[in-house]
Amino acid sequence: MEKFVIRGGKPLVGEVTISGAKNAAVAILPATILAADKCVIENLPCISDVAASVDILTAMGASVRVIDKHTLEVDTTHVTQTSVPDALSRAMRASYYFLGALLGRFGKATVAMPGGCNLGPRPIDQHLKAFSTLGAKDSVEYGMISVEADKLRGGEVFFDTVSVGATINAMLAAVMADGLTVLENVAKEPHIVDVANFLNTMGADVRGAGTDVIKIRGVRSMHGGTYSIIPDQIEAGTYMVAATITGGNILIKNVIPKHLEPITSKLEKAGATIEEFDDAVRVYRTVDIEPLNIKTMPHPGFPTDMQPLMTVLLTRARGTSIVTEGIWENRFRYVDELVHMGANIQVDGRVAVIEGVPELFPAPMRAPDLRAGAALILAALAAKGTSEVDDISHVERGYEDIVEKLRGVGADIRRVGKPEHALPQAL
Ligand code: EPZ
Repeated sequence: MEKFVIRGGKPLVGEVTISGAKNAAVAILPATILAADKCVIENLPCISDVAASVDILTAMGASVRVIDKHTLEVDTTHVTQTSVPDALSRAMRASYYFLGALLGRFGKATVAMPGGCNLGPRPIDQHLKAFSTLGAKDSVEYGMISVEADKLRGGEVFFDTVSVGATINAMLAAVMADGLTVLENVAKEPHIVDVANFLNTMGADVRGAGTDVIKIRGVRSMHGGTYSIIPDQIEAGTYMVAATITGGNILIKNVIPKHLEPITSKLEKAGATIEEFDDAVRVYRTVDIEPLNIKTMPHPGFPTDMQPLMTVLLTRARGTSIVTEGIWENRFRYVDELVHMGANIQVDGRVAVIEGVPELFPAPMRAPDLRAGAALILAALAAKGTSEVDDISHVERGYEDIVEKLRGVGADIRRVGKPEHALPQAL
């Protein structure tokens, strides 16, 4: 098994370039099915979740041509399969986007039920509510969920919970439904807007993405085109915290500063200085880390995916911080690892109380999930001495070239052991 060996304790200084947004990529790749044509997707992050999406597309009958490390041409003209093979759909939680995309094009789809995940239960009732409003029936057999409609017709959906996945899946199913679909109480994350922009580039008529109400006028058919994915705001936030916790100075390039505002405002309160440029931010810290209260919320609130990273930062604050997880039931599983490093954190349900300590000590650690894995790497970089982070396949689901990028800003980090999952050569 592979692990990262990290010798921490020095400020990270230099430049890093942010990759395309994972959570946009894993929705846009399935969405190419709706085009029934050639789509060129640029700025794809080279991560294992993208590789898993490509494997599914290929299994469904799409031809995928690698143009360069971050660009694929996906031709979905000859997709005929509507059932995603069980093993492939279980390889990635976001495989549920194939439900909306296949339903939208063929009127039917079968995908493995997303199980509970290591953040807590992962219900899809809101996805199914939207499909049902559009006229689809669903059934579950042997752990596979099927949806089917004679004809999809537009309708009004009021989501009971603000859900990124349900908002995107509803858009995918509705773009070619008859008539008008109105989605209310939708998610507003930058990747929702990115998926809507992609769909519009391919001929759809989606309006209002980024606000609480999205209106979709069904079109008869869609077509191919070229689209470039937005930069990953959570990857950018990760390097922003890396600069802050190590007292370093990093120029973070290829970002949209507006998308980073919820993160920027908290980091500035914690003592970071952030300079914004057109498509870059510089982050450095010259003063002590101040304690904060944070509650994670749907966009434009503070993103849940940054929660473990901020908790790590606050272990070094001079005072008491409170971090409340507003989205997932079980997102503090990494805290025990931090306690082994000397952090002082008490967790009660969805609330963590963090008493800052002057120092973290190196330790062997295990990444319980993607963002927590990245957070433990930052903790190791802040601790003087050598730490190890195990189970790194979680991290590689969502961070392109994390070792190379961290080394580029002066980190002493190396990967040892045999890879568990080989990344395909181009992705
Ligand atoms: C997306 O998951 C992201 N994943 C997650 O990022 C992220 O944490 C999450 O949005 C919140 O921002 C992808 O985009 C692939 P939700 P998603 O539906 O869409 C409840 C990462 O690290 N809910 O917005 O699955 C649900 O239980 C990952 O990159 C229902 O009750 O999240 C949760 O409490 C981890 N019924 C809340 O809504 C439903 O039908 C938000 O979930 C759907 C969701």
